[in-house]
Amino acid sequence: MSAETLDNLSSENRTFAPSPEFAAQANAQPGLYDEASRDGVAFWERQAEALVWDRKWDTALDWSNAPFAQWFVGGKINASVNALDRHVSEGHGGRIAFHFEGEPGDTRDISYAQLLTDVSKAANALTEMGITSGDRVAIYMPLIPEAAVAMLACARIGAIHSVVFGGFSADALLSRIQDADAKLVITADGGFRKGAAFALKPAVDEALKGETNVKQVLVVKRTGQETAWDDSRDIWWHDIVDRQHSTHTPEFFDSEHPLFILYTSGTTAKPKGIFHTTGGYLTQVAYTHKVVFDLKPKTDVYWCTADVGWITGHSYMVYGPLINGATQVMYEGTPDTPHKGRVFELVEKYGVTILYTAPTLIRTWMKWGEEFPNQFNLSSLRLLGSVGEPINPEAWIWYRHVIGGNRCPIVDTWWQTETGAIMISPLPGVTATKPGSAMRPLPGISAKVVDDNGVPVGDGHGGYLILDKPWPSMLRGVWGEEERFKETYWSRFEGIYFAGDGAKLDDDGAIWLLGRVDDVMNVSGHRISTTEVESALVSHEAVAEAAVVGAADAMTGQGIVAFVILRGGVEHVEGEELVKELRNHVAKEIGAIAKPRQIMVVNELPKTRSGKIMRRLLKDVAENRAVGDATTLADPNVMKLISEGLKSASSED
Ligand code: WTA
Repeated sequence: MSAETLDNLSSENRTFAPSPEFAAQANAQPGLYDEASRDGVAFWERQAEALVWDRKWDTALDWSNAPFAQWFVGGKINASVNALDRHVSEGHGGRIAFHFEGEPGDTRDISYAQLLTDVSKAANALTEMGITSGDRVAIYMPLIPEAAVAMLACARIGAIHSVVFGGFSADALLSRIQDADAKLVITADGGFRKGAAFALKPAVDEALKGETNVKQVLVVKRTGQETAWDDSRDIWWHDIVDRQHSTHTPEFFDSEHPLFILYTSGTTAKPKGIFHTTGGYLTQVAYTHKVVFDLKPKTDVYWCTADVGWITGHSYMVYGPLINGATQVMYEGTPDTPHKGRVFELVEKYGVTILYTAPTLIRTWMKWGEEFPNQFNLSSLRLLGSVGEPINPEAWIWYRHVIGGNRCPIVDTWWQTETGAIMISPLPGVTATKPGSAMRPLPGISAKVVDDNGVPVGDGHGGYLILDKPWPSMLRGVWGEEERFKETYWSRFEGIYFAGDGAKLDDDGAIWLLGRVDDVMNVSGHRISTTEVESALVSHEAVAEAAVVGAADAMTGQGIVAFVILRGGVEHVEGEELVKELRNHVAKEIGAIAKPRQIMVVNELPKTRSGKIMRRLLKDVAENRAVGDATTLADPNVMKLISEGLKSASSED
């Protein structure tokens, strides 16, 4: 973290207290902090009681086998019953669950009763296809209601879903199918993005040329485009789901039954299959959704702009909001199609009251200009949320002023795929917020900032963000990799969860997130590891060695900058052509989100005498800074050559 960033932060002293009107009606009142600090486990038990259990738990928390936690042990629960059946049986079946808006402008309003029918039919179809409790199902879909239906149908029958973001490549899909040993893939012919149909099914076909145990592929018809078909394996969703019985009697599963696996980047090339279980996860997503977003299910219209392929889509588009009976907007496409005011147009159209989005989009809106939001009536909004990366104070103020009309509290929510639910955030009716700070841990959560020895740093100092008490929605492990779980999260500080983020406490004890301290980049709020991109690059025949850094980027937070050394004696294209080929190669290996912003061909990489690449120096170059101390380099001249070269290197999109 640069000294400059720290200085900027310490000069930020504006605060915004909630209005008395907001505070008075808020779901979360100030007493919540004391209540939780008196007895954290009892506090979580009270939150769990808000769910529908078929059998109540015997033990709230078993931490005897740390770091493997068990919450609400002995309880029996069904996630889909909590999301759907309960609302219908309480008389709210007619309430809209999703206002779906396709990118081309097609719409569907889906009520809770309808969603329950859709999920019941899909659950019956999965059962007919031989899927049973514990089986893994890969879901590779555009952002359409069937994606949520597929997840809930899996949960309903105890199958474990593994959603793979639709922007990932066939290779990335294959490795995730293999790692989880999925039996079934649920996909679509394609989806709509940036004004055109894109295909998804061909990537599944390509992936399944690899060694897998996938027996069937269930395909939703979304675009109607020409689709290659394997009769022995592929089944249209409408052919099997539509003819099913419209009711389904759910079974109840152990609180610790796995609910889903979601792959995320770590510091090695192989993504980690983070897995979550049922009772604790549902408890914390429902509680946080209620207190952080202040949801009033009868009157609010809530919109989380994330894709189901990420944890935010799991926790705050599917499970949390549905358990709380929310009415949501689900939008398939991009924010600039067919015009740059699309999101604001939808806020006006549906009367959105709560908007949850990412800093990268807020900065993009700032760049496009106020004329787009100003064309629409945004007065329905009453609360704004931010997630995925630190939000810079300028963007925060712009969000508050231009989108929120200076009347909406902003909740900057810090959490991770691993934490499952929000951990650090203001409470909107309680906390006086500071632009750019996630403020403090939620009631029930213990987070600290510590130094190298694990000692809390105290106000006014920076260090590592850690979580020192188990929480209900914590990951239960890395799928199939027990040692890696312990090593990655619990070994830096004995018995304490280290999140990988740096943070600073200001003089009032408010938390300022400073970004990753490990080799994980954050590009538009997406986690990508430097090693993952490096190994994609060296898998290209022209590349001998690669070093990748995340460089500060005004729009995307970080941009991927790669330095590559070419292999001698290999015939390959050169210059611009080669750079283009390498960028496309990374997109093919991982997905378009991992395409380097810049690739520079170099003759040597800066290495220490022991051969370790000094990424810190490459980062200086990539961020156009004077190169820091290079005295430990084996060849001090290397950096000069690289700096000169980068100035003339190409950059794109
Ligand atoms: C970063 C997304 C600052 C952080 C929910 C974390 C944030 C990683 C914030 C997790 C925030 C997320 N302020 N940084 N409000 N929210 N991050 O797993 O580095 O995709 O470790 O989960 O994003 O990313 P993930």
